[in-house]
Amino acid sequence: METVLSDIRLIDYPYFSNERSSLLKNSLFEKGVTEIYSFGKVEIGSDRAIGKGNTSIIFLGKYKHEKVSIKIERSDSERKGSLKKEASFLIKANENGVGPKIYDYEDNYIIMEYVEGNLLIEGKFDRADIFDISRQCNALDKAGINHRQIQGGKHIICGKKNVIIDFEKAHFSNNPKNVTSFLSMCFLSDCLVRERIKKIFNFKEDWIKSVLKEYKSNSNIEDLISNIQ
Ligand SMILES: Nc1ncnc2c1ncn2[C@@H]1O[C@H](COP(=O)(O)OP(=O)(O)O)[C@@H](O)[C@H]1O
Ligand SMILES: [Mg+2]
Repeated sequence: METVLSDIRLIDYPYFSNERSSLLKNSLFEKGVTEIYSFGKVEIGSDRAIGKGNTSIIFLGKYKHEKVSIKIERSDSERKGSLKKEASFLIKANENGVGPKIYDYEDNYIIMEYVEGNLLIEGKFDRADIFDISRQCNALDKAGINHRQIQGGKHIICGKKNVIIDFEKAHFSNNPKNVTSFLSMCFLSDCLVRERIKKIFNFKEDWIKSVLKEYKSNSNIEDLISNIQ
């Protein structure tokens, strides 16, 4: 059972103004949001949020009976307008079957599907998840969208389904590197994700390097996957 935010001014993070928080609240509720909850890992006073970055704060909410993630631009963001850009990339990603489903947005917030699960970096994934995420990265490559933050492992949620989140830094590119960034992180870079990968795959780094090189020349994701099975 979720509880609602005890102070609605928190949605205007970190200034907590009456004015901006009521403008945001009215706009969100007009769109169909009915609740904003105190829930998640981030503590703000006695309340909670799902996530917090330099440009935005994310709350769990209810929208037309669905659990949603509401990403709101911070009042002290140094990249004003970044959420509007993110919404446009999320729409494009959704058209290619990628990303949390976007339900609605305005210049300063996005209402999207709430995805339950752990971040990839937390290591609770199996081989099938890696192949599924590789295919999603390939869909982004084919759509000409470069996510640009795939390599950290913090922008992929692994739950009942695997979902790539946070298109804030995405851009269009003739040479997107989602698949190669993702698999380089998994198999070649010194990181927590690779520690888990070593337990579930048998691989040689030189072999991975050569199959990634081949992918760069032909973008054939099924060949790549069968080569790392
Ligand atoms: N659609 C979502 N469903 C569930 N959790 C989400 C969703 N979007 C973001 N989060 C959570 O919020 C955190 C921050 O989100 P993110 O989009 O990366 O924002 P920022 O770039 O501001 O850090 C994520 O690490 C994740 O835990
Ligand atoms: Mg971000």
